[in-house]
Amino acid sequence: MNNFWTSLRKPIFALAPLSGITDSAFRRICKGFGADIVYSELTSSTAFAYQPESTLRIMRFNDSERPYVVQLFGNNPEHFASAARFVSREIKPDGIDINFGCPIPKVFKQGAGAALMTNPALAKEVILSVIENTPLPVSIKTRISVKEAGLLNFLDYINGLDIKSIMIHGRSYAQGFSGPNDIVTTRNARAHFKGIILANGGVKSPAEAVALLEKTGADGVGVARGALGNPWIFKWLKTAYTGNPNGRPSAEDVCGTAMEHARLSANLKGERGIIEMRKHLCWYLQHVPGTRALRQKAVKIRNIQDVADVLEQVTGQLC
Ligand SMILES: Cc1cc2nc3c(=O)[nH]c(=O)nc-3n(C[C@H](O)[C@H](O)[C@H](O)COP(=O)(O)O)c2cc1C
Repeated sequence: MNNFWTSLRKPIFALAPLSGITDSAFRRICKGFGADIVYSELTSSTAFAYQPESTLRIMRFNDSERPYVVQLFGNNPEHFASAARFVSREIKPDGIDINFGCPIPKVFKQGAGAALMTNPALAKEVILSVIENTPLPVSIKTRISVKEAGLLNFLDYINGLDIKSIMIHGRSYAQGFSGPNDIVTTRNARAHFKGIILANGGVKSPAEAVALLEKTGADGVGVARGALGNPWIFKWLKTAYTGNPNGRPSAEDVCGTAMEHARLSANLKGERGIIEMRKHLCWYLQHVPGTRALRQKAVKIRNIQDVADVLEQVTGQLC
């Protein structure tokens, strides 16, 4: 097994999975700015049986994204086993991740995502079924707690399984996506898990990354919303560590990257790629002062020329 996790330089800066957002186009952009590892959007292990085409679309990637990890969710060990075999054979990413953190009702109600933390026996079966059906390194992504189920007990229960890495979203299921990050539990996870630990939650700047790393003793951080319209964050995080902090990107830089992102998205997904680009364009514009009014145009883009027109108004010249 090629366990890429151990060859990554620390601290590791990962683009955390974001459903509907971290597609191949966005992952390539983030990789270009220095993300050490990128995750796919969460992908149903069960969907292989019913919607193979759309499932495959979510997983496709370009070699420039490596190391690239496919994240699976579900609640049926057999589905995980066949998904793991298929992903290893046909998709050939660098790793497979299992989602134990998703709180959204559609996932949670089927006993998948965060719900699996409340059913450690099934969680263990799921992890084993992936490990036994892939030569790739297996990682997991969890929350701090889900209802009565705490992370540390969960880690003790699955202790001994060959899990190479864990990304810990330092919030409880009840917190959803806001509120304080439980740094203490993330730090204590070190005594319960031998592999790579990535702390996640609330990193939007080098200062926040440094604080999270220092307080948790993690090997790296996962950045999710901090990268929206702001893929520079990876460069910014890295240069902060080399003592050569980069400033904010100029409006021209933002436009150039937004245009590159739109072209990639259109090439990969056609018209749908442009529609999906609407939200990204709004996020990019949030990083350019004085562009609030332009966001009304950004949410209506229909083709690559519309993107260029919006960005032209930012820079006063074609991007
Ligand atoms: C819109 C959205 C989609 C998400 N999709 C996923 C996903 O597919 N898989 C996953 O493990 N976590 C997902 N997450 C959780 C993030 O990976 C991350 O744990 C969370 O946003 C906290 O990190 P942040 O504060 O850096 O955003 C999602 C979060 C949001 C806001």
